Amino acid sequence: MAESAGLHEPADLLSPETIDRHRAIVSLQEELEAIDWYDQRVAAATDPELAAILAHNRDEEKEHAVMTLEWLRRRDAVLDSNLRTYLFTTAPVTEVETEAEGSKEGSEPAPQSISGSLGIGSLREDAQ
Ligand SMILES: [Fe+2]
Repeated sequence: MAESAGLHEPADLLSPETIDRHRAIVSLQEELEAIDWYDQRVAAATDPELAAILAHNRDEEKEHAVMTLEWLRRRDAVLDSNLRTYLFTTAPVTEVETEAEGSKEGSEPAPQSISGSLGIGSLREDAQ
């Protein structure tokens, strides 16, 4: 039972690779939650030495989260592509998206959506 906890489909329908990715995603969730919990405890602690220990522990969770994210990236080409597009950029994130979509369509900026449909139409075109 424990090994299938959190799965949304029967385990016998899932490949070992899918289940391992699930394990990694759940672990990543747990690490991010731990960062948040420690962050709040650091902010609330009244003893400075305790706050320093909690901050140290919080920052170790960041290493754990990133190691797990990197494991996932190496096994998911779409995640890899999106991380390469968005991480370590400085432009507003929505502009990074516009530029990335433009380069997919041959170096021209992606047309802005007049209807505010978040560009779903252009993504559909890419999928065809
Ligand atoms: Fe951790």
